[in-house]
Amino acid sequence: MPQDNRQPLAISCDCRKIEKLKNEWKYSGINVEQSKYTFSSFEVWNEASSRIKDTAAAYCTEFDEIKDKRRNSLLLCGQVGSGKTHCSIAVALNFLKQRIKVVYMPYRDVITKIKQNMIDQEYYACTISKYKTCEVLLIDDLFKGKINESDINIMFEIINYRYLNMLPVIVSCEFTIDRLLSFDEGVGSRVYEMSKDYIVEIEKDIQNNYRLR
Ligand SMILES: Nc1ncnc2c1ncn2[C@@H]1O[C@H](COP(=O)(O)OP(=O)(O)OP(=O)(O)O)[C@@H](O)[C@H]1O
Ligand SMILES: [Mg+2]
Repeated sequence: MPQDNRQPLAISCDCRKIEKLKNEWKYSGINVEQSKYTFSSFEVWNEASSRIKDTAAAYCTEFDEIKDKRRNSLLLCGQVGSGKTHCSIAVALNFLKQRIKVVYMPYRDVITKIKQNMIDQEYYACTISKYKTCEVLLIDDLFKGKINESDINIMFEIINYRYLNMLPVIVSCEFTIDRLLSFDEGVGSRVYEMSKDYIVEIEKDIQNNYRLR
């Protein structure tokens, strides 16, 4: 009697899809805790949150048109606790759903690990190459903490590669644009130019801190 093996095939196909999705998420580096940072959980509660949400949402909508252009990036900077990370992750989750491969780079953790392993050239090249070449790179909390020449050099290598190859970045950082430029004009001005059409600078004002509302 001929066997009907359609159902097992469908199941194994779904399993493979789920496995593939899991791997894509793992590759992105976004954790389960962060998956609650969506647009729908982002409240518009003041002028700053409205600007962040509108700009991030416009970036998502227009991404397909702008992704290969000079100004293909997003910069959310300024006031601590204003929802920069939340909205950056919301964009990343939106992209992942569309199978756009985003890599999440928690700046401080990654830079510390890279510097600790800098003598291992293979490790260095391999780690850096992921951040240089991925489809979209989300740098969270750029230049957080004490920074020295090594931090600048590593970030320059990553940003300059992406700049030259028109690869988009999503950047969150707690500084003003002027302060970002003062750390390193090479890194700062590249990020600024790439994000020129999608920049939100939140005024330093405790009233804009969602944690303290
Ligand atoms: N408009 C908002 N609606 C809902 N939750 C928000 C909003 N803004 C911030 N939050 C929540 O407040 C917390 C702080 O937000 P987030 O980490 O995004 O701020 P940030 O600007 O990245 O701060 P930091 O400069 O300290 O990194 C998070 O738990 C986030 O989900
Ligand atoms: Mg943050």
